[in-house]
Amino acid sequence: MKKLAVLSLLAVLGACSKANAEKPDGAENYVLKCAGCHNPGPGHPGTMLLKQLGRPVPALIGRKDLELDYLKAVVRQGLIEMPPFRPTELSDDEIAEIYAYIKDAKPPAQTPAMPAKEAP
Ligand code: HEC
Repeated sequence: MKKLAVLSLLAVLGACSKANAEKPDGAENYVLKCAGCHNPGPGHPGTMLLKQLGRPVPALIGRKDLELDYLKAVVRQGLIEMPPFRPTELSDDEIAEIYAYIKDAKPPAQTPAMPAKEAP
């Protein structure tokens, strides 16, 4: 009986550590690493600057005109206001997954980066 309890405990622990070890996919990495600056709506510096530059879709999501090589170069080297990402922060595969997500995903609803202050 004790043996069974220990075994089932081990099974539960094993399942937990497996869940934790799972890597975020393209959509999750986009949310973690890019959305703060690139989601649609006011307060997102990436979206605002790309709008000034006249890009067809200022938010990255849903942009079909970007090449993977260009996006990779921007993410690795940064671009004016955008900080670069090291391979330890995002691998080449993870950048490719973000790219695939950006091309196929529907734009999220307009989300202000910071909630509007409530009137006193
Ligand atoms: C700290 C804010 C910030 C973060 C985080 C950020 N970006 Fe940017 N990004 C910008 C800004 C600002 C620009 C516009 C460049 C400029 O004019 O300064 C930009 C430009 C770009 C461009 C160029 C688009 C074009 O039309 O030329 C790509 C591609 C891009 N970002 C992809 C990403 C990806 C992918 C991520 C996540 C891994 C990301 N960015 C994270 C701020 C950010």
